[in-house]
Amino acid sequence: MSSPAPTRIVGAAVPRKEGVDKLLGRACYIDDMEREGMWHGATVRSGIPRGLIRSIAFDRSIDWSKFAIVTAADIPGDNCIQLIVADQPCLADGKVNHCEEAILLIAHPDKHKLREAVASVRVEYEPLPPVFSIEESERQDAIVWGTDNLIKTFLLEKGDVDSAWANAAHIVEGEFRTGAQEHLYIENQGVIAEYSKESGVTVWGSLQCPFYVFKALRGVFKLPDDKVRVIQTETGGAFGGKEDYPSTLACHAGLLAMKSGHPVKMVYDRMEDLAVTTKRHPSRVRHRTAVSSEGKLLAIQIDLATDGGAYATLSSTVLSRATLHSTGPYVCPNIRVRASSWATNYVPYGAFRGFGAPQAIFAMERHMDEIAAAIGIDPVELRRRNFLHVGDTNGTEQLMRDPVILDHLLDRALKESDYYAKRTKFARENSSNPVKRGMGLAAFYHGSGFTGSGELYLNSLGGVDVTLKGEVRVLVSNTEFGQGTNTILTQIAAEALGVEYSSVTMAPPDTGVVPNSGPTVASRTSMVVGRIIERACLQLLAMLREGAGLGAKFTHGEFIAACERYRAAHGEVVSLCRYEAPPGIVWDDQRYHGEAYGAYAWAVYVAQVAVDTVAYSTEVEDIWAVQEVGRVLHPVLAAGQVEGGIAQAVGYALYEKVVWENGRMANNQMTNYIMPTAEDVPPIHVFFEEIPFRYGGFGAKGIGELPHDGPAPAILNAIRDATGVAFNAIPLLPEDLYAGLAAAQPADEVAAR
Ligand code: MOS
Repeated sequence: MSSPAPTRIVGAAVPRKEGVDKLLGRACYIDDMEREGMWHGATVRSGIPRGLIRSIAFDRSIDWSKFAIVTAADIPGDNCIQLIVADQPCLADGKVNHCEEAILLIAHPDKHKLREAVASVRVEYEPLPPVFSIEESERQDAIVWGTDNLIKTFLLEKGDVDSAWANAAHIVEGEFRTGAQEHLYIENQGVIAEYSKESGVTVWGSLQCPFYVFKALRGVFKLPDDKVRVIQTETGGAFGGKEDYPSTLACHAGLLAMKSGHPVKMVYDRMEDLAVTTKRHPSRVRHRTAVSSEGKLLAIQIDLATDGGAYATLSSTVLSRATLHSTGPYVCPNIRVRASSWATNYVPYGAFRGFGAPQAIFAMERHMDEIAAAIGIDPVELRRRNFLHVGDTNGTEQLMRDPVILDHLLDRALKESDYYAKRTKFARENSSNPVKRGMGLAAFYHGSGFTGSGELYLNSLGGVDVTLKGEVRVLVSNTEFGQGTNTILTQIAAEALGVEYSSVTMAPPDTGVVPNSGPTVASRTSMVVGRIIERACLQLLAMLREGAGLGAKFTHGEFIAACERYRAAHGEVVSLCRYEAPPGIVWDDQRYHGEAYGAYAWAVYVAQVAVDTVAYSTEVEDIWAVQEVGRVLHPVLAAGQVEGGIAQAVGYALYEKVVWENGRMANNQMTNYIMPTAEDVPPIHVFFEEIPFRYGGFGAKGIGELPHDGPAPAILNAIRDATGVAFNAIPLLPEDLYAGLAAAQPADEVAAR
């Protein structure tokens, strides 16, 4: 393995930039903020899954003159939350398509008056038949979106699938399902909005993508760019959940601020947040695979469907990533993936760490174990025989040019976990023990950055400047929400410039201050934005050398003196760069063919489980996570990303179930939407192999989403190993385990326990 060039700051576990403020309680989250004369806002929601609004009445017991009330009629611009498809109204106008759809907004100086007021608005409906599953949506009995309920489809084809079946030694089929999942960031969604004729609309909030919110406000308020401003406040977790929803909340608070003439705060409590915000798309994935007698994949056919919910939001891009990751890190000459996202009358599903890949990879990696069982070879060996290597092409016929070290990752995962010895030992012990242990693994890759030509289309702009006070600032719209953006981008800037880490800060995440370096999503910050910052820093050094006589080697004082000379001679000390695609990236969006991603992060994860066949509980006892994510910029933050992603994926696999009642989330409390606690998260053993990626920030590739992809299939594969029973749906709760084990065994055996 090549080892990266030595650096002082990049690769070191420097203190996180905002860490001390968070530790000392100085960090200011949205609900810590007040504005002079601030009111509070609340939302009147549909309560029915689908119907026409017949009338709205205001109960006389409330003195409504003390409230500001906003309906769709008050919207000065387009009644639409701008995202990809212009289908989602900011406020319902005559009809509702899910139970939490916002109908009107109210604000009052005293937030304690709001609950009763919301309950005192009476909406009458003419109900329409709702659609509550992918299957109902496919049947098109009721058309609830567009002309056919289809939000998006993709077709990916390679080779000739139809001719492959005849020559196959084995054909293995399977169906796999994944459920909705909540983000459960620690800090609920919240914003404060101000409005004035002179300065337009300003929003502070807990959010991922300031310029997405900016775009939504601009449309709803019909304002020019200089009259819209969005400032991210300290954000307590996001995981994709604050990618699109804050646009809606910002527009709501902005409208109330405009109507009331006061700043308006809207901060959801946990129950509202759980019920109304986006969730991970549920999926159904059907596999049909042709395999040779030597265990080589000959043809893969996948029918992949997601539940998109009531509006399109990000369903198309989530479906795209699901499609592109659905065949896994394997070579196969013949592939056909048909993917569809179907509208239903649930809250819109949206972005969530992994963005469709966890759903697709759960199916592929679970299916690989079933193929291995069907043809009678070791699941490890089946993977090894089909791994991608340099010179191979994947499903979109992207040629693997950069190092692919799956064999090495697999070997290391097997060694670190003592996989074979444990499997043998467990197999011996299981027959006489009601607690059955097993080992499972998953091999997978995750594309970094936007798909295909997405990064070129984004055309991100970012850079650095040096202020009059001699502060070096990183200028980006990328945000910190716990994952380490502030730290890694200032590390990159300090290292590239050759100045101290402590002398570099982040410019405020304020659309009035920073350029649009794109959204903080899609595992793009380290690789894509990091590279832009690195280039901007090298450009700044060249400017200072040519324009201010900066020497080849310099002290911090000499650097600042050169900046001052530069400022006196040329004006502002600022260096901005735009995204540049790595060479050879060609993507055909029509055929879904070509270089889908500039780089992939690769991983092999192993899970050890203990299944209690008396209590029907599953404990994940250990997880080994071996990955290659390019250069590791910060070892503690990187390991934290992996550990956090795995913890979240353990919940996805075994605990977190959204219970629906007539289209409404019934368990929207943390007491009965069960997420893993410290008790449930196993020891996680994290290993990195570092192969710097030439076109990533100091060699980095993406890391944020990858660790959510592998644990669920590894855990369910371990349960298969432990029990001999294939479970193909998550979350796998004790009742599902009971049902599956009971169905797999003679009735008297189950009764005898
Ligand atoms: Mo993300 S799920 O790309 O915010």
